[in-house]
Amino acid sequence: MKSQTITKADLDWKNLPFNYIKTDFNVRCHYKNGKWSSPELFADENIQMHIADPCLHYGQEAFEGMKVFETVDGRIVAFRPDENAKRLQSSSKQILIPPIPEDLFLEATHKLVAANAKFVPPFGTGASFYVRPLVLGIGPQVGLGPAAEYVFIIFGTPVGPYYKGGFKPVKALVIEDFDRAAPLGMGPYKVGGNYAAGLIGNAFGKEKGYPIILYLDPKEKKYVDEFGTSNFIGISGDKYITPASSSILPSITNKSLAAISEEMGLTIEKRQIEINEVENFDEVGAVGTAAVITPVNLIHYKGRDFKFGDGQPGPVITRLYNRLTRIQTGEDEDKFSWLDEISI
Ligand code: PLP
Ligand code: COI
Repeated sequence: MKSQTITKADLDWKNLPFNYIKTDFNVRCHYKNGKWSSPELFADENIQMHIADPCLHYGQEAFEGMKVFETVDGRIVAFRPDENAKRLQSSSKQILIPPIPEDLFLEATHKLVAANAKFVPPFGTGASFYVRPLVLGIGPQVGLGPAAEYVFIIFGTPVGPYYKGGFKPVKALVIEDFDRAAPLGMGPYKVGGNYAAGLIGNAFGKEKGYPIILYLDPKEKKYVDEFGTSNFIGISGDKYITPASSSILPSITNKSLAAISEEMGLTIEKRQIEINEVENFDEVGAVGTAAVITPVNLIHYKGRDFKFGDGQPGPVITRLYNRLTRIQTGEDEDKFSWLDEISI
């Protein structure tokens, strides 16, 4: 069935916030006695928990974020969900959660989206259906150790842009007083604890008027790591430059944009970037599922302002944004095979 033949939910699609809007179903699987159960639909948005569940005390939790779109020709597609499945496995292994098999992850994603098809924003609205898989360690336990049981939940919600105004430049503050990750810590894994650690820096930035914060490497405080909820990219001449660091999340958006950049004839440099070098970049972007590519027109560091562009998104970042979003909505051919079509 074409997505356009579905009666869509009555929502103001062009003005959606990036926030939770109730849908009809979520999907859950349980892990018990060494096995994951098959995905099941639930209408209830609440979960019953035990007061001694280890995810509540010791943060044994990992999650993902991915987007689903309606295409110009009325299909519903998930963007690279196989990559999210792999990253959730990597995060899970690091905190001793039994990894969810990729085919189970994809089956659960398809089931969720098909059951909530009326909440997938119509093509042309600029909105998307944001999917949030999470896995929690459960079963009463007080001593420190991995949980005996787990629940894997996927829910979704229609969303608008993460930063107000959509594709518009924002300013960033380099955070010097807090780290979100440690040199041999959890930075490359998408675990809840990293985001708890990031709240204070985020609040500090917002208080000072910066919607985005930029972390430096936690060891030397010399190299660019990543933004609070997205990777860093810099454009310098014909180069696409992004940090090589062992304390950042490997972003699927960044990997996709690097492929698009290569196709456009840019040279990809994944290497350490000294913070002082950033001043010479032509354009800077914050890239991630929620952020897409958010142009950064100013970075404040040690009393100095590094400025990029004239207040408008730069030309290369604009081309990258257009190409990525046109692939996601089927307006451009899916030549990289990034779209996973969902039957509804
Ligand atoms: N870095 C952090 C800390 C994030 O939370 C995210 C969002 O998922 C990203 C980077 C971007 O990753 P992706 O492009 O896979 O969404
Ligand atoms: C995402 O971009 O999907 C994220 O998980 C970031 C989150 C803080 C919204």
